[in-house]
Amino acid sequence: MQSIETRVVQIDPSQPSLEILQQASNVLQAGGLVVIPTETVYGLAANALNSTAVERIYQAKGRPSNNPLIVHVCSIGHAKEFVDHWPANAQKLAESFWPGPLTMVLKSNGLVSSLVTAGGDSIAIRLPSHPVARALIQVSNLPLAAPSANTSGCVSPTSASHVVKDLQGKVEMILDAGSCELGIESTVVDVRDENIQILRPGSVTSSMISEVLRCKVNQPDSLVVPNTAMVSPGMLEKHYAPRTLAIWIETDFWQIAGEMKTKGLQIGVLAMEKTPGALCLGKDPVEYARKLYGALHALDDMGLDRILVIAPPDLPEWFAVRDRLRRATVRL
Ligand code: TXA
Ligand code: MG
Repeated sequence: MQSIETRVVQIDPSQPSLEILQQASNVLQAGGLVVIPTETVYGLAANALNSTAVERIYQAKGRPSNNPLIVHVCSIGHAKEFVDHWPANAQKLAESFWPGPLTMVLKSNGLVSSLVTAGGDSIAIRLPSHPVARALIQVSNLPLAAPSANTSGCVSPTSASHVVKDLQGKVEMILDAGSCELGIESTVVDVRDENIQILRPGSVTSSMISEVLRCKVNQPDSLVVPNTAMVSPGMLEKHYAPRTLAIWIETDFWQIAGEMKTKGLQIGVLAMEKTPGALCLGKDPVEYARKLYGALHALDDMGLDRILVIAPPDLPEWFAVRDRLRRATVRL
């Protein structure tokens, strides 16, 4: 792929410059790619109505074309423009959680590029709360297809520097508004019929959705088939994963770490509590989520042999964080 010039532009989230938004909007209108800050992670945005532009997202990420993209909109009315049917449950969830980290899967009316929906008849839609993302959608007056702004399978970016090291030369513009507030991707929920199904856990939990809809919400106990170090690397469920081999540690941390050090391996550790030599992300799941991808990027950049991840507790409030960590790690 030919390298293009990437402009990294700082933008103040509390007062986004109209001039910069207009420049980003011009890039999008012309079929270009703009990396945008959102409250979850940075997104790699293109005009969802333009197939040539959307195709460039897949190329820049190396993403398989059968994995559909989320469409970002600026209002409930804007969301309705792209669906065949707006169920009462969608209205209730939008009123409760939009703008914010909730993506709803609905029936598409076929208006966005079929590449966005990977040829399927459903569409995933989200109204982000980040002021820069919202303002850009408004100024450009476009629905923006935007996956996380990282090479497919790698750790999502929560700061512009994460994006620069990964996608420089592949996008026209990166809007740098500092670090993302929530740090993990939005909850994805299928609301097409009465069988409400969580497809990806996130900051909006199944019990929060259940409370609003006053019905049962389906969420598999564990969303991930555990990776094992035994299977061939090509078979690993590699998602949100650092390049360094990361290992999920439920028990016997000291013993395992000791054995690795004896073998001369350089190890990094991700912990909840202060542990010598470890990056400590704390015991609060919200704070842990905010810092998680930054910590994985930092550990990955250290050229270590192994990253040991001390598993957070198996409690509902840790569900989304555990989901991401399980996908980033293998089990011994
Ligand atoms: O927080 C987020 O959702 C971020 C920011 C940028 O908005 N975006 C993000 O996009 O995480 P991505 O592409 O990395 O993840 C989108 C997820 C994927 O798991 C994809 O399979 C699923 O949403 N998805 C997209 N469209 C879908 C559809 N029509 N039906 C079911 N799942 C869908
Ligand atoms: Mg992603």
